[in-house]
Amino acid sequence: MTAQTRTHSPSTVSGPDLVVAQTRSLPQDFVLGVATAAYQIEGARHEDGRTDSIWDTFAHTPGAVVAGDTGDVACDHYHRYAADVELMRSLGMQSYRFSTSWDRVCPDGGPVNAKGLDFYERLVDSLLEADIAPWLTLYHWDLPQALEDLGGWTSRSTVDRFVEYALAVHDRLGDRVSTWTTLNEPWCSAFLGYTGGEHAPGGSSPADGLAAAHHLLLAHGRTVQELRARDASLELGLTLNFTVADPVDPQDAGDRDAARRIDGQMNRIFLDPIFRGAYPADVLEDVRHLGLEDHILDGDLDVISTPIDVLGVNYYNGSTVSARPAVATSVADSVPDSVPATARPTRSPFPAADGVHTHPSGLPTTSMGWPVQPEGLTRLLVRLHEEYAGPAGVALHVTENGAAFDDVPDDRGFVDDRHRTAYVRAHLGAVLDAIEAGVPVRGYFYWSLMDNFEWAWGYAKRFGLVRVDYDTQERTPKASALDYARVIATRRLPVPWDLQAAGASSSSAGPDRDGADPAAQLQA
Ligand code: FCB
Repeated sequence: MTAQTRTHSPSTVSGPDLVVAQTRSLPQDFVLGVATAAYQIEGARHEDGRTDSIWDTFAHTPGAVVAGDTGDVACDHYHRYAADVELMRSLGMQSYRFSTSWDRVCPDGGPVNAKGLDFYERLVDSLLEADIAPWLTLYHWDLPQALEDLGGWTSRSTVDRFVEYALAVHDRLGDRVSTWTTLNEPWCSAFLGYTGGEHAPGGSSPADGLAAAHHLLLAHGRTVQELRARDASLELGLTLNFTVADPVDPQDAGDRDAARRIDGQMNRIFLDPIFRGAYPADVLEDVRHLGLEDHILDGDLDVISTPIDVLGVNYYNGSTVSARPAVATSVADSVPDSVPATARPTRSPFPAADGVHTHPSGLPTTSMGWPVQPEGLTRLLVRLHEEYAGPAGVALHVTENGAAFDDVPDDRGFVDDRHRTAYVRAHLGAVLDAIEAGVPVRGYFYWSLMDNFEWAWGYAKRFGLVRVDYDTQERTPKASALDYARVIATRRLPVPWDLQAAGASSSSAGPDRDGADPAAQLQA
C-alpha cells in the first residue's frame, strides 16, 4: 500500500510573523532527523505473530486513554513504511530514530519470531537505501503483557528476557545499524507506569516504580555489556528525559528543596548510576522507606555504569516548583503545567515528592500545557556535559524535542503551523547556543515525523511535522516540515524575529553571525 502524500511548495512557509531576520549556520557534521516509536505508529496489532504489550492492554482498558483510542491501527506504518521512508527522504532527513517492538520480535517475551524481525530488516534496508542513518531504540515502553503478568519491570527476571530480545534484534540487524540505544525514557516506564498510573501498566505504587527503575537500569547495563562484547564498534547508549527544575523563589529553602527533589527523582536517579555507579545520596535518603535498596544486589551498579558512547537527551520543558501550592491570580495562571489526560485516578509519579507543587512558569504553553522554554535546553545540555557526559567522553544528541499544537488544516489538509516552526527554530537555536558554549552536541531529532498515538492522550495531540488524516492515512507535510527540510538542505537556521510565535520567552537570536543574506535563504 502506498501512503498518499501531498507536497507543497516551500514558499508556503514564509508568513509575516516568521520573516527571517538573521540566520545561523549549523556545524557540518551536526545530524538532523526525526523520531518515532513502534506502538505510536505501527498498528498491525496481531499481524505476523505480534502479541499484546502492556500498551495494548492499557489502551483497551475503558477510561485509560482519551476517547478510547488505541494503537491497533495508529499510522498503519507497518504497511506504509516504504512510503514513510520515501517521505523522509524527500524532506532530506539525515537520520531516523525508531524503536523495535519487543512483542513483534519475541511475542509474549518468548522465542524469536522471524517475521517480526523481517519487518525491521525491510525498514532498515529502505532507510539505508534512502541514505538515512537508522538509530535504533530497543525499548520504547511496549513490554510484552505476558511478562507484565509475571511482575513486569518490578521483577528481576524481566532483565534476562530483555537481554535475550536485544540480542535477537542484534543478530539480525547488527551488521547494518551502528547506533543502538537500550531504553527510551526509563523515568516514564518506571514512574508514569508503575507509580503515577497515567501510563501502562497503570500502577500506583512508589515502591514498584523504584523497583522498576532499578531493573530498567540493570537491563540497560547488561545489554550494553553484551552488545559491546559482540561488536566493539557499535555506538551504544540510552535516552533519558530531563527537566530543568527551578525553585519558584530561589531565596526560599522549601522551594529550593522542592527543586532538588524533582531534579533528583527525575534526572539524577538515572544519571548518577549510569555515569558514577551510585544512586545519589540525597535521593536514597528521600526514598529510604520505599525499599529501593532491597533490589540493589552486589555488582548491579558496576553493570549499570558500564561505559556508554551516546546519551540521548529528550527535552520538552522545564518545571518551576515550590513547597507551596500555586495560587491562581488569573485564568491563564490556573492552567497547571501538566494536566492528566483522563479522569482515571492518578497520583504524582515522583516516589517521594509529596508536598512539591508545580507552578505556572508564566511562559506560553503548547497544547499539552507544557511551557515553551528553549533556554532550558541550553542550560540542560551545558550541565549534562559539564557534570556527566563530558568527563566520560560521551557524546550528546537531542533525541526528542517537539510540540503539540491544535493544528487547523485547510481544505487540502495543509497546516500552516507557524507556532511549531518557530518552536523548532527556537530550540535548534538553543542547541547552537550550547554548542557555542563548548558542548559537543552531535544531532537533533524532532519528535515526531508525523502525528501519532500520543499515549494516554490518544490521537488528540498532534506533534508531527507531517499531518496524518487518520480516516484516510493520508500524510501531508505541514509548513514546519518544509521549514525543517530547508534548514537541513541549507545547513542554516533562520531565527524568527518574533520568538513569541514559538511561545519562547527569551531569544537566542543574535546578529547574523555568518553574514549571509537571509532573504536568499528563504528563496533557497
Ligand atoms: C516523550 C515520549 C514520546 C512522545 C513524546 C511527546 O516522553 O518518549 O513517545 O510521546 O514524549
